Amino acid sequence: MQSMNGPKANSPKAQAMKIETLAVHAGRQIDPGTGAVTPPIHLSTTFERSPSGEYPLGFSYAREGNPSRRSLEECLAAMEGGKESLAFSSGLAVATALVQGLEPGDHIIAPDDVYYGLRQLIGGIFGKWPVETSYVDMTDLDAVREAVRPNTRLVLIETPSNPLLKITDLEAVAQIARKANAISVCDATFTTPVVQRPLDWGIDMVWHSTTKYIGGHSDATGGALITRCDNYLFERARKSLMFGGAAPSPFDCWLTLRGISTLPWRMRAHCANAKSIAGFLQTHPAVERVFYPGLPPHPGYATAQKQMPGGGGMLSFQVHGGREEAMGVAARVRLFTRATSLGGTHSLIEHRASIEGPGSKTPQNLLRCSIGLENAQDLIEDLAQALTR
Ligand SMILES: Cc1ncc(COP(=O)(O)O)c(C=O)c1O
Repeated sequence: MQSMNGPKANSPKAQAMKIETLAVHAGRQIDPGTGAVTPPIHLSTTFERSPSGEYPLGFSYAREGNPSRRSLEECLAAMEGGKESLAFSSGLAVATALVQGLEPGDHIIAPDDVYYGLRQLIGGIFGKWPVETSYVDMTDLDAVREAVRPNTRLVLIETPSNPLLKITDLEAVAQIARKANAISVCDATFTTPVVQRPLDWGIDMVWHSTTKYIGGHSDATGGALITRCDNYLFERARKSLMFGGAAPSPFDCWLTLRGISTLPWRMRAHCANAKSIAGFLQTHPAVERVFYPGLPPHPGYATAQKQMPGGGGMLSFQVHGGREEAMGVAARVRLFTRATSLGGTHSLIEHRASIEGPGSKTPQNLLRCSIGLENAQDLIEDLAQALTR
């Protein structure tokens, strides 16, 4: 659906615009029927055919596509600098569609500390499929090269990783994947296109849990896949979305698109707050180690500066002691909320090993924080009192 007043996602005009402008305009139009500036939510599940049997406006049935979803897809493609995008009902629905697109006997390379839900999906849901997976430390490029096999078809990247905030060199891994004739896909949920655009570094596709920063208000579940160029895994994901049924609701698409309007400004505040809090934690005597890629001495700091200068809004830290001490800090916070997920307005704190469950490699004394949009000093004071026994 061509935008009337806003730029179409892939038009040269859209490409030339800056991210703040795309966040407000891409994929939107002034409603031609009413003049409404804010787009309506299109709830209709079915669309009229012309007398000759065509669908002149490009929509036939809501599972296969609807105007609210199309607007979101156009906006995300423009913001990532991609060719096309697909919106799904959740982040993991995107990963499901990607793995479903592989052939029996194919091989996946994935990060050794990949988001635990993805490990559950590959091992638990696809475990009985004849698809092999090697989990490697993606910060070690030799390990990635050594993991490549003749049947490697998919290289999954997550940077920064969850919850250790490890940084993978996007440009280097994209080259390794291309040489292996595999498709590289980056989970960029933690950064969004405001902080890092993997396609600019040669990555083939980006996926997001839009449930997080992109929606931004912890009130809509969704996922998105954005491609730099035509490829068979994107086409198979499209088919999986259309006929597998993981379509997002129009209301979730609308909420997510509304959230995107403020994404660039929210991300700046998330990054600034997280940097201040990481700096505070680095000097606190009760803290053993801080994981924040926007500050030295993080081992991925130089790579992060190159590909994600904002540092992001996520950080983790280990307290001196073990599980009990970490749980104690989480129990004493007053302003932070003890909850999973990330990317919303509220600051969240989480004992990550306990949500990941048995088999988790996350240290027991580690807490992960999603830094929200409150005042940084208030958040620092809250952590200071929680760290004091
Ligand atoms: C990095 C990352 N990727 C993907 C997902 C999955 O997204 P969803 O919960 O929308 O399925 C999550 C969820 O926490 C995540 O943190």
